Amino acid sequence: IKRITTETLRGMKGVEKISMLTSYDFTIAQMVDAGGIDAILVGDSASNVMAGHETTLPITLDQMIYHAQSVVRAAKRCLVVVDLPFGSYQSDPQKALDSAVRIMKESGAHAVKLEGGKEIAESISRIINAGIPVMGHLGLTPQSIYQFGTYKVRAKEEAEAQKLMDDAKLLEELGAFSLVMEKIPADLAKKVTESINIPTIGIGAGPNCDGQVLVVHDMLGMTHEFKPKFLRQYLNLYDEITNAVQQYVADVKSVDFPNEKEQY
Ligand code: KIV
Ligand code: NA
Repeated sequence: IKRITTETLRGMKGVEKISMLTSYDFTIAQMVDAGGIDAILVGDSASNVMAGHETTLPITLDQMIYHAQSVVRAAKRCLVVVDLPFGSYQSDPQKALDSAVRIMKESGAHAVKLEGGKEIAESISRIINAGIPVMGHLGLTPQSIYQFGTYKVRAKEEAEAQKLMDDAKLLEELGAFSLVMEKIPADLAKKVTESINIPTIGIGAGPNCDGQVLVVHDMLGMTHEFKPKFLRQYLNLYDEITNAVQQYVADVKSVDFPNEKEQY
């Protein structure tokens, strides 16, 4: 099978939409890769989805590397991008490079993603200069949730919209290969997408981005209380799995399981 690279994604802009989903473990990543996804994001949303934290802030670099290793073992065809977690890059560019190098060396992933624009420009440059592909992330950046205060739509006002546009152009200049835009008005996402030559990947950013990303547990309906407007739920695995467990419990209690064929 031919591996999808960051160059493949760049070449898809204006030609073919890019499909991306998160994964955090081997078993799900195997199915996501087999389903023909272009790229997997080992998101720091693992902090919420895998560990049950309220925010993405607590997850550590070691934990991200563990998730990334598991996903890389499963991903035969797609590109694997890994989030740099909160605290592993914001403070200083050398630390940012060290964190990115650890992810690449220890997990075998293909690229990293960082939240922010101008504020972290130097960190992004360092990482790119070391030969590590960088995906940007603008708009709603969950690692800054305590600064925002809410998970509401970002960049509705002119000043913030202009900053986002400037940051997107800066990321392109710095050499980022792609850019996630989270929860911003569809019109703004369209304008940004038309203003830069690297592919934009939207989540809650409308249909005019160059690609779309969702958290896989959300689109599979496993995280059943989380239903933002931008989410399309393809399955209801919360109910499916809970029902299967209920059936198993009943079968064990009634000694229906195991039967004659299910023993030695
Ligand atoms: O961590 C994550 O899942 C993400 C996507 C929502 C873009 O950053
Ligand atoms: Na993330």
